[in-house]
Amino acid sequence: MSGQFANDVAAGLGATPKTLPSKYFYDALGDKLFIKIMDLPEYYLTRAEMEIFTQQTHELIAALGQNPTLHFELVELGAGDGQKTLHLLEGLLAAGYDFTYVPVDISSHVLTQLEARLLRHLPQMHIAPKIGDYFEQLNILYETETPRVVLYLGSNLGNLTDDKSAIFLEELSDCFKPGDRLILGVDQIKSADIILPAYNDAGGVTAAFNINLLARINRELGGEFDLTSFRHVPEYSEKTGIAASYLMSLREQCIRIEALDQSFNFAKGERIHTEISRKYNLDIVDSIIGNTQFQIIKVLRDSQNYFLDIVMDRI
Ligand code: AVJ
Repeated sequence: MSGQFANDVAAGLGATPKTLPSKYFYDALGDKLFIKIMDLPEYYLTRAEMEIFTQQTHELIAALGQNPTLHFELVELGAGDGQKTLHLLEGLLAAGYDFTYVPVDISSHVLTQLEARLLRHLPQMHIAPKIGDYFEQLNILYETETPRVVLYLGSNLGNLTDDKSAIFLEELSDCFKPGDRLILGVDQIKSADIILPAYNDAGGVTAAFNINLLARINRELGGEFDLTSFRHVPEYSEKTGIAASYLMSLREQCIRIEALDQSFNFAKGERIHTEISRKYNLDIVDSIIGNTQFQIIKVLRDSQNYFLDIVMDRI
């Protein structure tokens, strides 16, 4: 794992322009910072999707298209703290559905906490957590006869380029049987004055989240980054609908990374690209699923029309 991290850091910082994969945000500190981000006044995404899950639970349950008397699996990719899902789980149990909740996450720490919290609220629930990087190994969704609903929420897809999203969803749709459903949660394209602050909060939590990538290189790879010599730079283009985050070197400097036995030069003002958070509309989602077997059967929106939960099935 740290071998992979070292390789990815060497490749990313060796490239022009420099880049680092956003998946490395999520170590123990990054997980904590992201939980703080979800509570920020500027970060509307989580609240908007939460509103859909709390206000439209019945519509959502109907859209899952499951037979209440047949056992099904409810798989959640990148489950995180499972706050939104809790409402859906409660609703399903109250309506007498027979299902097993299968949260999938790369972080075993996150999964243990999630399982404990859910069982406290809903002791009668069946839960079967799975540890794994679902991007690398979708075979985590081994084939099964059991009907299945997959949740992929929170606009997590937005960290991928459209090309990679298309490949990912193609592989995902290959694991689907007729009757299975996907709920894809995506953030909508909207004006920069709403989106930019969500990635540049006044309290500096998002900046700390971004800088933590360098801190993690220091901790795990013996990096010598001076964290005060880089600044968080967010951008958003209304034209492309893509938010991007960078870390900008505030001076010319040369940074050694012990585990790589290598140093990297930074010009003053040079940036490391660390994340994209793509924003969507239905046309963009349609073109991304163009080569998959998915089709959109229902779209749920929050009252401000900020966020979409898109229900799909397999053609
Ligand atoms: C977890 C990928 C949905 O892109 O909005 C939040 C991560 N990055 N603030 C997003 C994130 C900066 C988040 N996702």
